[in-house]
Amino acid sequence: MQTPRSEFARASRAWSTATIRCPTGLSVGAHELVFRAELDARELRDALDLRRVVFQDRGDYLIDAHPGLHPAEDPHDAVAQHFACSLDGETIAAARFSPDFEGRFEAEELAPLPGVLDETRDAFFQVSRVVVREDFRKRHVTEVMLHLACRWMAEHAARRHYFALCLPGLARFYEHFGAEIVVRDPIVAPSRRGHSYLWIRGELAHTAATTRNYLATVASGWDLARCRLGDPSNTKPSPGARA
Ligand SMILES: CC(C)(COP(=O)(O)OP(=O)(O)OC[C@H]1O[C@@H](n2cnc3c(N)ncnc32)[C@H](O)[C@@H]1OP(=O)(O)O)[C@@H](O)C(=O)NCCC(=O)NCCS
Repeated sequence: MQTPRSEFARASRAWSTATIRCPTGLSVGAHELVFRAELDARELRDALDLRRVVFQDRGDYLIDAHPGLHPAEDPHDAVAQHFACSLDGETIAAARFSPDFEGRFEAEELAPLPGVLDETRDAFFQVSRVVVREDFRKRHVTEVMLHLACRWMAEHAARRHYFALCLPGLARFYEHFGAEIVVRDPIVAPSRRGHSYLWIRGELAHTAATTRNYLATVASGWDLARCRLGDPSNTKPSPGARA
C-alpha cells in the first residue's frame, strides 16, 4: 500500500508509534496500548480483518464489494493514511484518513460533496472506517486513536481539515471531538439499505486538542501526558520521548 508522499511531506517523520498505559480493567494481559501511524503489510491486513468483522453484520454493503482486494478493502485504501491500535499484538481499533483518489472522495460515491466542502476540497481528508473491536468499546479507545491520528496528521500532512459522512448517531458522537455538522438535512443512501447520513467536518489540530482535553477531564483513565512516542524505524518507543 503506497500513500502519495506529497500528501505527507510537511514534516520529517519524527514518530510513528505511541505507547500508552491502559486504564485498569481494559485488558487482562497487555498493560499498554500501541498506536501505529504507518502500518506494514501485516498490520494493514490485521486492520482490514478487524474492519471485516465489525462491518459484516450491519455494514455488510462494505464487504466483498471489490473483487481482487481484501474483502473489507476498497480502492481508497491504496492512498489512505491508516492508523491502528493494538493490545498484546492484537489489533483492536483502526481508522483511515484518505485524500481524494482519481479526483473523488469515497463519500462522493453516495452524494456530491456539499459546496462548503467542495470549494476547498484540497484542504480535506475523509475520515472513515473508524472501528473498535466490540469488547473494547465505551473505554475511550476511539478518542485515544483519533487524538493521536489527528496529531500525526497535523504534523505530517499539508491538508489541515477532515470531513466524514456519518450516520446521525455517530455525527453527534463526533461533535464531542470538535467536529461540526455541515448540513442539517441528512442524505439517504439507497445502496446502503436506505441509511441516512450527515456531513461533518473538523480541523485536525482542533480535534487533537479537543480529544486531549476530553480524555483529561472525564476521568477516562488514559494519561496522554505519559504517552511514549517511538521512531518509525524502531518499533520500540524512544526512551524519554513524551507526547
Ligand atoms: C464507532 C465506534 C468506533 C465507537 O466506539 P466507542 O468510542 O467505543 O463508542 P461506542 O461504541 O459507545 O459508540 C459511541 C456512540 O456512537 C453510536 N454508534 C456507534 N456505532 C454506530 C453505528 N454504526 N450507527 C449508529 N450509531 C453508532 C453508539 O450507539 C454510541 O452512542 P451513545 O453514546 O448515544 O450510546 C464503534 O462503535 C464501532 O466500531 N462501531 C461500528 C463501526 C462503525 O459504525 N464505525 C463508524 C463508521 S466508519
